[in-house]
Amino acid sequence: MFDKKTIIKGVSFMNYTYKNALLPPMERTLNLLSLMTLEEKVGQMMQISYNMVNVTEAEQWVKNKFAGSFLHALGDNADRLQELALSTRLGIPLMFGIDAIHGHALLNGATVFPSQLAMSCSFNPSLVESAGRVTAREVSADGLHWTFSPLLCIGRDTRWGRINETFGEDPYLIGLLASAIIKGYQGKNLSDPGSILACAKHYIAYGESTGAKDAYDTEVTLRKVREVFLPPFKKAVEVGCATFMTGYQSIDGTPMTANKKMLKDILKDELGFDGFVVTDWNNTGSLVDKQKVSPDISDASKKAIESGNDMIMNTNDFYGATLKLVQEGKVSETLIDDAVKRILNIKFKMGLFDAKKRRGYISTDVIASKEHQEINLELTRESIVLLENKNNTLPLNNIKKIAVIGPNADSIQAQFGDWTFFSHPDPNPEAVPNFEYYTMLRGIRELAESKNIEVTYHKGCDIMDKEDIDIEGAVKACEDADVIIAVVGDCLAMNGEFKDRATLDMPGSQQELLEQLKKLNKPLAVVLVNGKPLSIPWIAQNADAVVETFNSGTLGGKALADILFGEFNPCGKLSISFPYHSGQTPVYYNHLPGWHSPKYADLSTAEPLYSFGYGLSYTSYKYSNLTLSKTSCSSKDTITVSVDVTNIGKCDGTEIVQLYVNDVISSVMTPVKELKGFEKVQINAGETKNVSITLSVSDFSIVDADEKYVVEPGDFEIMVGPDSRDASLLKEVLTVF
Ligand code: GLC
Repeated sequence: MFDKKTIIKGVSFMNYTYKNALLPPMERTLNLLSLMTLEEKVGQMMQISYNMVNVTEAEQWVKNKFAGSFLHALGDNADRLQELALSTRLGIPLMFGIDAIHGHALLNGATVFPSQLAMSCSFNPSLVESAGRVTAREVSADGLHWTFSPLLCIGRDTRWGRINETFGEDPYLIGLLASAIIKGYQGKNLSDPGSILACAKHYIAYGESTGAKDAYDTEVTLRKVREVFLPPFKKAVEVGCATFMTGYQSIDGTPMTANKKMLKDILKDELGFDGFVVTDWNNTGSLVDKQKVSPDISDASKKAIESGNDMIMNTNDFYGATLKLVQEGKVSETLIDDAVKRILNIKFKMGLFDAKKRRGYISTDVIASKEHQEINLELTRESIVLLENKNNTLPLNNIKKIAVIGPNADSIQAQFGDWTFFSHPDPNPEAVPNFEYYTMLRGIRELAESKNIEVTYHKGCDIMDKEDIDIEGAVKACEDADVIIAVVGDCLAMNGEFKDRATLDMPGSQQELLEQLKKLNKPLAVVLVNGKPLSIPWIAQNADAVVETFNSGTLGGKALADILFGEFNPCGKLSISFPYHSGQTPVYYNHLPGWHSPKYADLSTAEPLYSFGYGLSYTSYKYSNLTLSKTSCSSKDTITVSVDVTNIGKCDGTEIVQLYVNDVISSVMTPVKELKGFEKVQINAGETKNVSITLSVSDFSIVDADEKYVVEPGDFEIMVGPDSRDASLLKEVLTVF
């Protein structure tokens, strides 16, 4: 056989070294780039949305304009387009992207995990990584290569429509979970058949827009961007996230698509990001028709290129405009080369040219396999948060009959939430799932009947419309029940892009339904199926038990039943605060000091209804013995914080021990506390565990008024406990010199 040298020589002879899989990706990239025409280069920058063109147009984009990528093309359609691409002059393969946000959920039949917000309440990076791995295998089995996930936006104003897609309100937790799921998606090697590209989005501060208005202006300073919003994205660069996506938003009047400072200077030059940046949906066109900073698509295209966008999602006029700009010398071809180099380098790195990423390389048997379902069930159970449990209403015991009431008890649409085949690429509420799933009702019914407990069900009312209500019928259905389980919340019409809310109240007639059920004086357990925190003070006050499931995915009902019947001791903790009232938002825990009044004049407290990090268990824990390995140190040091946690209840459990830090005096105002570490520990009844968390003092750095990252000398309060509330935390002081 030929040795490596001969092969390289042989293939190089045809000057098509880019086809030689033995060469490094960048070498293959440079060779291929040297062979490409301007049309082929600009084509590589185009990402076409399959659901926005007809079949002929899609094929023309491949054959005549050499498009580099499609989104929203599934399985067979993607395959056909790939064949076409491979038959072009240089045979550059297409890259297929998809919104696999909580599983490959746009494919009817794939594993649907809990939403990002739900799974973040597990505080379990390794399970979140497993969810990423499962998703990657199912996306790969479908012949696709790239997920537009994770979303790293910080969910601080819960009126925003896309809160369900965030990992909550804390940058540290977001960075940790985003890094985990990116590792899950991308695996050990991008070129492994079961690996896909991850996409850190939406760079940057997209969720911070004024008034929580989706895609609107975000009045943050560069200092605040660096201090609050950049850290999770920095983590994504550090774990090698292959792509970043910008967003619809603007920062202080500069649209992200035209923000060279953020895209080129900070992301690419300062952080050293070597993947490629894709715009969000028609962001280049938005510079003209929405944000009004460009008179035409030519100017918009020029701005997008010069600011550092490498791939252009669904702005098809960009192609012709950019060819003209380069041909007229208005945009340098080296800028096009920079973008195309980044894209091709990733295509080579992921093995796209080497056939390992073709459909069929991974069997479609992996889709929703038993192994994947088991991982999903484990994550779903750990994502559920017990918010109230008065008089030990839960776990259910000594009962004969359960009444399951409410509009979300048997709604897989509400349980799935956003970014599934019901909602994208086009709304399809009538889609019929072609796989087994567990609504709350099915989960409760199956487990109850296995214990000879009778279950009755009544919907009671709808979420949105006021017509379809039969509260009387629901009350009647509860007549001889020993316990009522009311499953309420919100729906897709109140969550997602373009769906910010002015209030966070329980929608429709659900409140009326709950109040009528309460009058029956039976134990009332409320189960929430919702995309985001709702302002539910009446429920907190009047329900005997409250369980938060958010959008729990395919197995939500099974996981919930395990918790209701005590087969699983709940251990989830909130990754986001719940307001008493929508007027109280934003109400996140890591807020700055200095509010003149301790609370709103018309609210009884300044505290949220439920705090970040809060969640109950069927057992309880006592914290004692907080010690620091040293009480003073330099900013270069590390310290170990230890605490004893005792399970003083009757059943084994898992506790999420949280560590917060407050920089007592700082040159710019800093949050009253910030999560800097946590440990999730299994502690059996009666057992005491000594839990240690080691911190680098450099993690206490702030961004000062000159945008410098500094650890300023002085006192730092080190706080440890079960949640972020002051009353829950043990405190010691560390002096940094
Ligand atoms: C949407 C979303 C983005 C998504 C993209 C492709 O507008 O903002 O998160 O990945 O379009 O579907």
